[in-house]
Amino acid sequence: MSTYILAIESSCDDTSAAVLKDRKLISNIIANQDVHAKYGGVVPELASRAHQQNIIPVVDRALSQAGITKEDLSAIAFTRGPGLLGSLLVGVSFSKAFAYALNIPLIEVDHLQGHILSHFIEKDTPPPAFPFLCLCVSGGHTQIIKVNDYFDMEIIGNTIDDAAGEAFDKIAKILGLEYPGGPIVDKLAKAGNENAFTFNQANISGYDYSFSGLKTSFLYFLRDKLKEDSNFIEKNKNDLCASAQRAIIDSLTNKLIKASSDLKINEIAIAGGVSANSGLQQTLLRLAKKYNWIIHIPSLQLSTDNAAMIGIAGYLKYKNNQFADIASIPYTRQKR
Ligand code: KG4
Ligand code: ZN
Repeated sequence: MSTYILAIESSCDDTSAAVLKDRKLISNIIANQDVHAKYGGVVPELASRAHQQNIIPVVDRALSQAGITKEDLSAIAFTRGPGLLGSLLVGVSFSKAFAYALNIPLIEVDHLQGHILSHFIEKDTPPPAFPFLCLCVSGGHTQIIKVNDYFDMEIIGNTIDDAAGEAFDKIAKILGLEYPGGPIVDKLAKAGNENAFTFNQANISGYDYSFSGLKTSFLYFLRDKLKEDSNFIEKNKNDLCASAQRAIIDSLTNKLIKASSDLKINEIAIAGGVSANSGLQQTLLRLAKKYNWIIHIPSLQLSTDNAAMIGIAGYLKYKNNQFADIASIPYTRQKR
């Protein structure tokens, strides 16, 4: 008999519901919240309100697109954390109430584990083989994770300040671009010269990252250039995006090369919103040839926040009988 998991993701500013039939994704609905764009970042209280507005219509659409009814569901999986408390509370409370009413099990999922496990959703190519290294790059996290098994993961590298997505968003903000800036920088960079300008890159030991120096170097560089020419940004937007993006990508991949060589692991995956970056993807494909890596890149709908990834993690836990307590509460910071 097939297992149907309804998954709910509401950790930040996207309200998402998905249905999986075993490992196969049969619906994935994402309601983005445009309300934050004009504030240059996610406003937590507005995010909670928008989740409250979106959650029931999004779940309704996920069920109808999957062609099932709520009575067909085997369990409900939800993101327990990390994320914004008010946002998480909407998804957690909804999931508890729905599971309780349907008398089916509840499964809690860690958002970052979800990003990584998205690679195990059924597709035409084989999933990563254990152990593999996953570069998890989002708006809140930048980590290299050694994945020994579905739920046996070791963080071997971490950012000591900004996350890679945050670096993209801050650079975009300095350039006067909208939030989230990552996808806009990616698009503008395509028509730019990545060697036009050089920005400071951190030199941190081990597999850790730092992006705050890059942001400061970018800011000071522009401050000086704007004194000479007030149209400097307009004239050089593509080159600025391409050069800053190159600096971020080089930082990310240099540590990955080091980790892969030290640990002798050539199975490499990327996950999280920044994994949608076309420059990062092309660089990884190039490195894969050079270092003999087997590379796993998520599709666009699975790279940024989505409930499908929570659904696959939920399915894997369901098979292990790992269920959540009805008294489960959200956590806002990453568990170690
Ligand atoms: O995983 P995600 O959707 O949410 C978090 O868990 O944070 O990641 C969002 C981050 C944002 O910082 C956004 O600017 C970045 O991912 N992002 C990108 C691209 N698409 C999304 N950064 C660079 N290039 C992209 N194409
Ligand atoms: Zn995320």
